[in-house]
Amino acid sequence: MKYIIANWKMNLGIRESVALARGTLHALQGKEKVPEVVVCPSFTALAEVRKTLSRTRMFLGAQNVGPGRAGAFTGEVGVSQLEDIGCTFAIVGHSERRSLGETDSTIGKKLAGLYETGNITPILCVGESKDVRDAGEAEKFVKKELKDALSGLKIGRRRKLLIAYEPLWAIGTGKPASVLEIVPMQEMIRKVVTDITGVDGADLAVLYGGSVDTENAYGFLREPSIDGLLVGGASLKIHDIHAIIESACEVMTAQESL
Ligand code: 13P
Repeated sequence: MKYIIANWKMNLGIRESVALARGTLHALQGKEKVPEVVVCPSFTALAEVRKTLSRTRMFLGAQNVGPGRAGAFTGEVGVSQLEDIGCTFAIVGHSERRSLGETDSTIGKKLAGLYETGNITPILCVGESKDVRDAGEAEKFVKKELKDALSGLKIGRRRKLLIAYEPLWAIGTGKPASVLEIVPMQEMIRKVVTDITGVDGADLAVLYGGSVDTENAYGFLREPSIDGLLVGGASLKIHDIHAIIESACEVMTAQESL
């Protein structure tokens, strides 16, 4: 299985979000073998986008989640509320949130809340800055992020975990990481996550994110160790997200016939 996660970030009103969700949905029409496509609108548009997605093969994700199921957390949206609105995925620890002050301890609480009950799969984001990569410390840094977020976490049987490797220097820069940089990182992530959590096989997916576009998506997706893509800017353009989903369909069909 390949995943395409569309992170629309702090963009689009309700009507535009519904239109983009409908447009994205068209990319799946008439296809037999399709990736798991998840759209992540802003909280304000979740309810309306949910209606568009009902009885389709596309899933709804949140860009963030509060630190627990419910309670006295002004301005946060908790796990129960995301379940209520029909989310089955939630992005946790995106670097844009970490840069606003989100700490490892908060990320740990969010993950614990998501695994407490219910049915929302976390998409945990990790990735190093340019300075860290230039210093040759990228793997060490990402390993620490994984340990800090996942140690002690109780993940029930048959629950899934998605990790997105998103190097900070590749996000929104037009300069994606290369396959040669991504693949060893993906392999390390898979091993470390399995060692810490026991989650393995089809329950664990390791994605890449950072300046994914129509030109580079196929090259990433055909790598067996890259289970999918977390797409920012390109997911807001209907032609681009279609082409990216199309690449995933092609790769999945080609791999099936091997
Ligand atoms: P871009 O695809 O715009 O680089 O954003 C990546 C990202 O942050 C997705 O979560």
